[in-house]
Order: sequence, then structure tokens, then C-alpha cells
Amino acid sequence: MAKIKNPTELPILGTLEKEELIKLVEELQEEKLLREAFGHISETGSNDAALMWRGRNRFLAEQVQPVVISPVKEKSYPKRNGGEHRIIDGDNLAVMRSLLTEFRGGPKTGFDVIYMDPPYNTGTDTFAYNDNYNLSKAELDQLKKKVRYVEKGVSLDDPSKHTKWINHIAPRLWAARKLMKHTGVIIVSIDEHELPRLWMLMEEMFGEKNRLATLIWERSRKNDASYFSEGHEYLLVWARDERALNEKMKVMATLKEWERAKGKWRKRKDGADEILMAYAEAKLAHNSDVSKIQLAMNEWFKALPQDHPARKNRYKKIDEEGMFNDDGDLNWPGGGGPRYDVIHPVTKKPCKVPASGWRFPDPADMEALIKAGKIAFKKTHAGVPRLKKYLHESDLEVATSVFKIVGQRAVDTVEKLLGKNVFDSPKDHEMLAELFNLVTWRDKEARIFDPYGGSGTTGHAVLAMNAEDGGNRRFILVESGDPRNKKIPKKDYTDRLTAERIRRVITGKWADGKAHPKLPGSFTFYTAHKAIDKAMLMASDRENLADIILQIVEEDSNRQDCRFEGYEYLIGKTRLGYGIALVWEQGRMRGHQPLTRDIRSKIMAEAEQAGVTKPVYIYAVANTSPQNDKLYRFQQIPDSLLARLNLLEEEENND
Ligand SMILES: C[S@@+](CC[C@H](N)C(=O)[O-])C[C@H]1O[C@@H](n2cnc3c(N)ncnc32)[C@H](O)[C@@H]1O
Repeated sequence: MAKIKNPTELPILGTLEKEELIKLVEELQEEKLLREAFGHISETGSNDAALMWRGRNRFLAEQVQPVVISPVKEKSYPKRNGGEHRIIDGDNLAVMRSLLTEFRGGPKTGFDVIYMDPPYNTGTDTFAYNDNYNLSKAELDQLKKKVRYVEKGVSLDDPSKHTKWINHIAPRLWAARKLMKHTGVIIVSIDEHELPRLWMLMEEMFGEKNRLATLIWERSRKNDASYFSEGHEYLLVWARDERALNEKMKVMATLKEWERAKGKWRKRKDGADEILMAYAEAKLAHNSDVSKIQLAMNEWFKALPQDHPARKNRYKKIDEEGMFNDDGDLNWPGGGGPRYDVIHPVTKKPCKVPASGWRFPDPADMEALIKAGKIAFKKTHAGVPRLKKYLHESDLEVATSVFKIVGQRAVDTVEKLLGKNVFDSPKDHEMLAELFNLVTWRDKEARIFDPYGGSGTTGHAVLAMNAEDGGNRRFILVESGDPRNKKIPKKDYTDRLTAERIRRVITGKWADGKAHPKLPGSFTFYTAHKAIDKAMLMASDRENLADIILQIVEEDSNRQDCRFEGYEYLIGKTRLGYGIALVWEQGRMRGHQPLTRDIRSKIMAEAEQAGVTKPVYIYAVANTSPQNDKLYRFQQIPDSLLARLNLLEEEENND
């Protein structure tokens, strides 16, 4: 959320549309509430039950230093050009901070889905804690100046394992929230080790009202368990803003595809696609002869493997309209319904009336259904007729909260792709694809982010979804490498595990040497290890520096459409519309071009052309043009940027 630090920015509020103003106030209130919730709880006791841990009052105030994210051509696919998806090697928190430049969440911007599969803190997993919280006294004092409520008397050394885990996950959840589109959904995998703490954190950060479901993935059976076989884990599904999602649902209900589902999240019934395909083939082969199609379909069902999902299907009968079942009840719910005559088409006598009366109060409605062939009569009038339901009209169903998919399926997939024992406990890409499709209404443009890339399951799922329907979904995966992995050194991990799986899925060249389809796609590989400091800023080329400036000023700006291309000096605008320009000579004497009167005039002309608000913030190493606060504000490179990062003092001390 933007902070209005500079009072000269306030008059600009007057230029905002009413809705924008309301939204801004709402966002400010929300931000304030969240900050209060995390800042005051131990002091005021004004909150409801909440999770306490050492570090709670600090993490929101902690500055995460953005990093430089640079492409690595040789590790991209195809090698030179790269492509639409991204795989980033680096710590996910710093990367998320940097991604805000491009993906700050808003009503129309940010990620549609964020899937997080963090280390579960089992004692043997990939959880490698970077102990930021062992602060020195000086650091602690500095922190206390910034944050009013640092817990007193609590040792910051030697935190327990849960504390460490929470201190790892809390800022990442918070960063994820900032990156989500308002209609977006976050899905977090977890098992019993940290479920209670994660759930409480999610409640506080995302709000109880935004919880959509807690799913269970039942993946194995532990026959040697002493008490219960606890072979499942959880997926916590939360909306960024359930109200926004609900509004979207209403819009989706107006689209033909989701009309029948009333715009709600619905999945295709298991096996429905295969049945409808077999039916279409039989219809073609037998010239629409209903009895022949019925025989062919009976044979088709018989030949299915025992565990095929289509076996459970109840739509096995056929008429001119398609495949149907006639289980639909015609009873009046509860009793006391209307009792009128419904004449049997063969015996011409009134059929038996259900004990509770007919379901439709108006006999004309029943008559219309009979005419449309939707009522299945029994052989004689002695039986109560039933309502027909067609598979092609009821092929969607609500998703239930338990997924029973053996974990071995995902292990086998990774083994076939990359070889034995390269990665423990991968997720199942088909299950993820189903979930992503469900929560995005199969949106072919969905943007999907996974900050714990691992073996690249999310990327595989997205490629498979695109291959299935020709979609244009994009993924970004982040992976920092796992120091405990015995087969792949940490420094090569993202390349040889995460990216390698995606390369193989794209090329169809799996480790098992068998034929696999080539899934369309390409990706650019990035590294994100270099922290921003003075030397780095001064050595940057113009494009890189522009990127960094926009990243650093993100607190005040709304990134998505704030970047300008094609100007000599203007690089973007802040959230409130002020121009941002960069004077940076390339080539010969890199970086030593001051802001002159002449350049200032050119910038002002560009500002007019782009329609940005003045003053324009001009970044340059020095300024020789006359001061004019109304027209522009000079921002010295590198000091103004280092100051924003709270690095100025440090740099000065090092000089
Ligand atoms: C549970 S695994 C994810 C598995 C993945 N969903 C899959 O199906 O393959 C967690 C991954 O996150 C990585 N990781 C842990 N901390 C990280 C961090 N701070 N930044 C980036 N990656 C991290 C680990 O190296 C590990 O590969």
C-alpha cells in the first residue's frame, strides 16, 4: 500500500475518481488494521486470540533489500532467446520484493494464483533457516527506533524451531499477499507439523472471511503406524478478497460456459470427457441408431479398467438427445405436494402419484417436460415416472475437499523425468492443474506464481494446462537450492532440477528414454543473487538502473502501468502520477552525466507528452540546472536510492 509521506502529494487526491478514493481509503484502513494487529497485540490485549512468536512485532518493519534479477541466456530454453515463463534462482523473499515492480496486486493486476509449498519443518526436510533474528545489540537498538513494540526481555537468540519456521514463512505470506490480484487465490501446502501455526497466520494476514477451504490430499497409507495411518497433508485455500471473487463469480455466471454452474467453481465430472468422446464416436459409427449406440456403449463400459473413473458414472442410458440417467426424482420435497393426473403414454391411464405429490405445482410444467422427452415412464402406469438427466447437461460438479491421489504417482513422474532419488516428495502436477483450473475458471491467461519451485511441478502443471486447451497461462517459479540435497549441489539445483524438468517436459526427452509428448512452451532463467549496493548501482547500465529505481520507489507507486518505454529520460510514473526520469549516460563515461538545464527542458517536454504530473522526480548523479520545486525534484544517485534502502549509513561507514 502506498504511504503518503509527502504532504505535497495530498492535493492530488482531489483529482481521483470517487471510486478510486474509496478504494484508497479502504486499502489504507485495511493496512492500518493489519499493522495494528501485528504491532500492538501484546501491549493492548485488544485483539482476539492470535499467534505469538518471537519476531512477531518486527517482521512487517523489516526492510527486504531488493535484488538484481538478471537473465541467464545459456540456462534459458531455447538457449539464446528464452521465453514466456520464468524460473528464478534466488531467495524467494527478495525475489517477491523485486517482483512487486511488475506484479503489485490490484483489481486487475498481480497473480491469479500463488501456490506455496514451503518446507514443512519436519526436521529432515529442506528447511534451512537464515537466522536474521540473531540481531546484535546495535541492530536491535536501531530496530527499536523504527518499531515501537519490540518485545522486552525476550531473548532473541536461540529461537525454537517453530519460531524459526514462522519467522521464515510470515514475511513470505505477507509478500505473497501484496502480489495477488484482488480476485486471486493463494494455496499453501502443509502437513501436521506446522498446520496450526500456518492456519493462525493465514487467518490474521488474509482474514477469516477470506478462507475458502482446507483441502486434504490423502496420498499414502502407513501400515506400520501405531495409532492411525496419517497419510494425508493439507492445502489451505484463501482468497485475497472474497468479495472481489464473489463479484467475479457473478460476471462468470453471465458467460455461456459457466451459466449452468451459476458462475461457481465447478470441475468436470471424473470420466465425463471420456464417456462423451466414446458416445460421439459410437453415434458416428452407427448412424445415430439409438439401440446400436446403446450396445456399443455397453461394450465400451465393460472394457474399462476396474479403477477407471467413468465406471462410477450413472449416465449409461441412451436416447436421441444423448446419454442420460433416469434417477431424477419427481417427488414434492417434504410432503403435501400437488396430485394431478399424468397419463401413461402406452396404457393411457393415470400413473401412480408419488406419496408426497408431484414436484411441479403446475401440470403445464410437467406436460412441457413430457413433450421435451425429459420424463422416463415405467413400463406401465403402476410405476412412478422419473426425471431424465443428461450427461452433457450435468458434466460439471462441485469439487470436494478430499483428494485421494497416491503420492507415488508424482514420485514416478519425477523419476521418469529426471531419474531416481533426485527429489523427495514432489507434488502431483495433475492435481495442481485441476486445482489451478478450478480456482481460475479455466482462465487461459492466468498468471501463476510458485515461490518454492522444487522439482518444477507447478511449471509442469501449467505447461500441461496450456497444451490441453491452447492457453496462454504463464508461470514464475523461484528456487534457492537445497543444501541438503545429496545429488545436486545447491548452486546448480535450480538449473539442474527445477529448470531441467521444464526443459524435458517441453522437449519430450525424459530420463526414461520413452516417447513423451512435447508440451509447447519456453522460459527465461534468471539469477537473483546480487544485492543492490553502491558499487552495483554505479556500475549499472541505464535499463538496469531504471529497473532498480522503479523497484525501490515501489512503496510509493503502482508498478503495473507505471513503466514507460521509448523516452530518452522518462522511465515511469508513481502511483499518484508523478513522473520519474533518469539521466544516465551510457558508453564512454558511464553514469557521470549531470542534470543540465538543457536536459531538464527535454524531460519537461517528455513529461508533457506522457501527461504525467509535476514535479517530476529526476534521478542523476549531479544537478547543474536551476532549482524549481514545482517542476522537478532532483534525486541524487546513488544516495537517494541507498537512503530508501536504509543503506546510506552503512555505505558511508565503509567508505
Ligand atoms: C517442499 S519443496 C517444494 C516442492 C515442489 N512443490 C515440488 O513439487 O517439487 C520446497 C522447496 O523450496 C525451496 N526453498 C526453501 N526455502 C526457499 C527460499 N527461501 N527461497 C527459494 N526456495 C526455497 C527448497 O529448496 C525446496 O526445493
